[in-house]
Amino acid sequence: MSTQGNLTSRQTWNPGSWRSFPIAQVPDYPDRAVLEATEAQLGTFPPLVFAGEARKLKRALGKVANGEAFLLQGGDCAESFAEHSADHIRDFFRVFLQMSVVLTYAGSSPVVKVGRVAGQFAKPRSSPVEKVGDVELPSYRGDIINGTEFTPEARIPDPRRQIEAYRQSAATLNLIRAFATGGYANLDNAHRWMLGFVKDSPQSGRYNELANRITEALDFMRAIGISADTHPEMQITEFFTSHEALLLGYEQALTRVDSTSGDWYATSGHMLWIGDRTRQPDHAHVEFFRGIKNPIGLKCGPSMTPDGLIQMIDALNPENEAGRLTLITRFGADKVGDHLPGLIRAVEREGRKVVWSCDPMHGNTISLAGYKTRPFDRILSEVKSFFAIHEAEGTYAGGIHLEMTGKDVTECTGGARTVTAEGLADRYDTACDPRLNAEQAIEMAFLVADLLKHEKAMRGPAVPAAAE
Ligand code: PEP
Ligand code: CO
Repeated sequence: MSTQGNLTSRQTWNPGSWRSFPIAQVPDYPDRAVLEATEAQLGTFPPLVFAGEARKLKRALGKVANGEAFLLQGGDCAESFAEHSADHIRDFFRVFLQMSVVLTYAGSSPVVKVGRVAGQFAKPRSSPVEKVGDVELPSYRGDIINGTEFTPEARIPDPRRQIEAYRQSAATLNLIRAFATGGYANLDNAHRWMLGFVKDSPQSGRYNELANRITEALDFMRAIGISADTHPEMQITEFFTSHEALLLGYEQALTRVDSTSGDWYATSGHMLWIGDRTRQPDHAHVEFFRGIKNPIGLKCGPSMTPDGLIQMIDALNPENEAGRLTLITRFGADKVGDHLPGLIRAVEREGRKVVWSCDPMHGNTISLAGYKTRPFDRILSEVKSFFAIHEAEGTYAGGIHLEMTGKDVTECTGGARTVTAEGLADRYDTACDPRLNAEQAIEMAFLVADLLKHEKAMRGPAVPAAAE
């Protein structure tokens, strides 16, 4: 790979200009001809999302940047070809809506709903190889690249998987759009499901009060004639998709000119993010991202410095557009206090408009009983610190980014119905990192609701930004 590109020489961007930059985490495809043919084929396929939708999400995230809304982003660590059923998508969507009802009420403001879904297939890996006993094989890199089975054949990157990932994304998105707009997602349903969760939770006492207040609010609205029957907007919900844009050949093939604005948009999902392992400022991923107009995320782990962050913001959001850039911080419960304040101060000093979102998953992974897991209390602890640090700095804790599923898996320890180290083996289904199960995810939403409520009380009502 040529290394002629660098930050200062960057000028003309096109969807393929990333190819002249060094790149990390790239799969080693044995057959270049098949790869090229696949990318060419993808380039003829219809877009999965439209530029107008991405702009809508950017506007919604602009409100988050201004403290007027909260971002809930979550879903599988890695979607899988084997786990593609209507039930899987429905269960995830239901849990997500319940969480968003709780957060909307607690924050008295809109929740911007963004799934890690319909495209979250490519995985960066800490090690290029995986060892089991004496056998060493290339690491699994997500179903869009190779297979999970621990065999030499499965681990060979196969470009044709990109076609299957595209088709699965299209089918998933189709069902989600139907759920979101076809009546299933109406507020009464989400509320009823949430009450079911509270009733069955070992922590019912703790969540009852908030749940009852939501019920009262809905009863009141109904009494004055506002219900899903009279207000069709209560039957639908706005839901967006996102994924890590790791596999740039795939992303390039789905990057299209928007006929309305003449701008380039990635059409593989509404929001794309740059992973913590591929955010080198002079590398290919940053080059690709700077030219697409979608709202984007940037993962910020412990190696991100305040100056490095400003350099990244210069490259990715030079016009300081609110909603363009979401900083997804993921330090670990024990490190967030060392790293986050410095980044916040640099951003404030330079007057940059960003959304601050907390990913409490990726810095809190441990090994237990032979499994990769994440203790619920550590996840919660990083979220609490995130809110406390923003309060101390006078900035807005704007969102949360979770790995979660609608299923009753046993991948993260703890939670109200405690998953123990011994219990991890029961239903450890993830293709990659451990996810919160349905109950743990809703529980997390109730706990974040307390923090959000406190944040709103301390900050007072947000002053809406002047219309542009
Ligand atoms: C992820 O979000 O699944 C991920 C790999 O995150 P990070 O880049 O922050 O490690
Ligand atoms: Co992950």
